Amino acid sequence: MSRPDPDSATDRLARVRSIASAYRPTPGALLPLLHAVQNELGFIPDDCVPIIAGELDLSRAEVHGVISFYHHFRRTPPGRHVVQVCRAESCQAMGGEALEAHAKARLGVDYHSTTPDCAVTLEAVYCLGNCACSPAIRVDDEIVGRVDAARFDEVIAELRSGEASA
Ligand code: FES
Repeated sequence: MSRPDPDSATDRLARVRSIASAYRPTPGALLPLLHAVQNELGFIPDDCVPIIAGELDLSRAEVHGVISFYHHFRRTPPGRHVVQVCRAESCQAMGGEALEAHAKARLGVDYHSTTPDCAVTLEAVYCLGNCACSPAIRVDDEIVGRVDAARFDEVIAELRSGEASA
C-alpha cells in the first residue's frame, strides 16, 4: 500500500478528512476510525484531532483521551521498523521482564520511542496470541517466539543488515 507523505500536513489532513467522513455514519466509529488513520499514516498526528472530533461530534479532549488511553495508538511517526515486546502474563512468566530490559538497553530507547537513526520503534503489547511460545515479540508483521536476549540481538541484527543491503 502506498502511503501519503507523513510530512505533508495538507496530504495527511485530506486523508484523515476522507477517512473520518467515511466512518461518520458508523455507530461507535471512533476506535475503528483511529485504527484506520494509524494504518494509513503510521500514526495519529495531533493536527488531525480537530477533524476527527468535528466529524464525530465529539470534543477534542474526548478524542485525545482515547488516543492516549490505548498503547496501540502512536502520536508520532514510527521508525522504519516496529518491534513490540509482549508484556502479558504468559510472557512475563517466561522471562519477559528480563527480555524487556534487554530490548530497551540493546536499542537504547524506552517504550514508545525510536532509535536516533529512526530504524526501530520499541513498543509494548499485551498478548500477541503466541503464549505457547513465550516470551514473544512482533517485528513489523512477523511474530517471533521463545525470544531470549541472544535471539533478540539476532533479530535486530537481521533488521539492520536488511536495511544495509536494501
Ligand atoms: S502473553 Fe505474550 S503472547 Fe500471550
